[in-house]
Amino acid sequence: MAAGNLFVIFGDKEEEKMYSQKMYELGSKKSTIRTIFEYGKQRAAIVGEENIYDFSLGNPNVPTPEFVKQAIIDILNEEDPCDVHGYTVAAGDPKVRETLADSINERFGTNFSMQNLFMTAGAAASITICFKALAEEGDEFITFAPYFPEYKCFVESVGSKLNVVPANIETFQINFEKFEEMINEHTKAVIINSPNNPSGVVYSEDTIKKLAEILTKKSDEYGHPVFIISDEPYREVVYDGAEVPYVTKYYANTLVCYSYSKSFSLAGERIGYIVVPNEVSEFADIYAAVAGAARVLTHVNAPSLFQKVVARCAGKPSDISIYEKNRELLYNGLVEAGIACVKPEGAFYLFPRTLEEDDRAFCEKAKAYDLLLVPGSDFGCPGHFRASYCIKTSTIEKSLPVFKKFVKEVYGI
Ligand SMILES: Cc1ncc(COP(=O)(O)O)c(C=O)c1O
Repeated sequence: MAAGNLFVIFGDKEEEKMYSQKMYELGSKKSTIRTIFEYGKQRAAIVGEENIYDFSLGNPNVPTPEFVKQAIIDILNEEDPCDVHGYTVAAGDPKVRETLADSINERFGTNFSMQNLFMTAGAAASITICFKALAEEGDEFITFAPYFPEYKCFVESVGSKLNVVPANIETFQINFEKFEEMINEHTKAVIINSPNNPSGVVYSEDTIKKLAEILTKKSDEYGHPVFIISDEPYREVVYDGAEVPYVTKYYANTLVCYSYSKSFSLAGERIGYIVVPNEVSEFADIYAAVAGAARVLTHVNAPSLFQKVVARCAGKPSDISIYEKNRELLYNGLVEAGIACVKPEGAFYLFPRTLEEDDRAFCEKAKAYDLLLVPGSDFGCPGHFRASYCIKTSTIEKSLPVFKKFVKEVYGI
C-alpha cells in the first residue's frame, strides 16, 4: 500500500481508500474566493446582479487588446495550420523565445537569448515548475505575507514546506527583521510577487537590493545558493509611472515567472514563460531541471497558437486606464468611509485594514450589505481584506454609499 493512503474500516476488515486523501481535500475544499464568488452569483439571482458588489475575483475585466485579436486572425490566415496547432519543442518555439528575449532585453537592459527562456502555460505553471525543478528532500521555501494562497499547495505538491514571513503592514514591503529570523540552511528559494496580489504594492529598488544583499550573505554562509523565484504576472499593471525593478539585474540566482494572463487579459489561454539567466549557478543544469520538472508535470509544450500570438505582440503596451480609474475611485471612497489602506501602485487589488481584528467577522458583516470581500487571513495577513477592482466602474460607484452605510451602522464611524 502506498504511504499516506487512508484505510477505511468495514466491520473488522481494513480496506484501502482508492484515492489520495490529500488530492481529495485539494479538489473538494473550495477556496474562500470561489465560495464568495459563487455566493454572489446565487445572491444576484435573488436581488439582481446590479445590487451585488462582488470584489472577490481577480479575473481581468479590461478586454484583450485589439492587437492581440488581430495577431490571432493574422496567424490563422497566414501561417501553416500544422505549425500553428502542432507540437513545438518542449521549451517553446525557438523563434518565439528569441523574439521575447529581444523584447525583454530592450525593455530592461538584460542580455537574454532564447536559451534563457522556457515557454509555459502561465504563471501558475511557471512557479510550480520552478519549485519542482529546485526542490530536494527536506528543502523549504519562503514567501512574504500577504501572499498568493496557491503558493502553499504548489510548494507542498513537490514535498516541501512553505514558510511565511509576517507582513510589514505599514508599507507591505518586506519585513526583513522577521525574514532574517526565518531563513535557514534548508531554505532553497524565496518567492516574491511584485506588483503584489493582494496588496497591490510594488517592491522598491531598495527592497530588492536589501533582499539581494541578505541572500548573497546567506548563500555564502550556507554554502549553497538561495534562489529568488520572482512571480510577475502583474509587471505591466502599474500606475503613476511606478518602476518594477527587473530582479535578475540585482541578484544572479533569480528565476522569473511571467504570464500574459493579466497584462493582455489572456488568463484563459494559459501562456507565459520562465527566464533562467546565464548567471544562475549551474545554469545549464538548472535549465535542464526546469525542462525535467515541466516534463513530469505533463507540460509537453505551451499552447502553440498563443506562443506565436505573444511573440507578435511582444512589448506592446495594454491600456490599463480602466484599472487606474477604478483604483482611484475605490481607494478614495474607502478612505473617505474611514477605512485605512496602503495606496497600491500596481495590480488590481486594494488590501485595506478591517475595522475589527477578526477579518472573517468583518467580511461576514459586510456580506449582509452585499459587499463581497475576501478576508486577509486567506493571504496570511489577518486584520485586512482584499477588494479586487477589476470590475465595472459603475459597480464601484454604486458600492461607495453602501460601504459608508455599512461602516456607520456596524462600526459607528
Ligand atoms: C500572484 C499570482 N501569481 C500567479 C497567478 C497565476 O497566474 P496565471 O493565470 O498566469 O497562471 C496569479 C493569478 O491570479 C497571481 O495573482
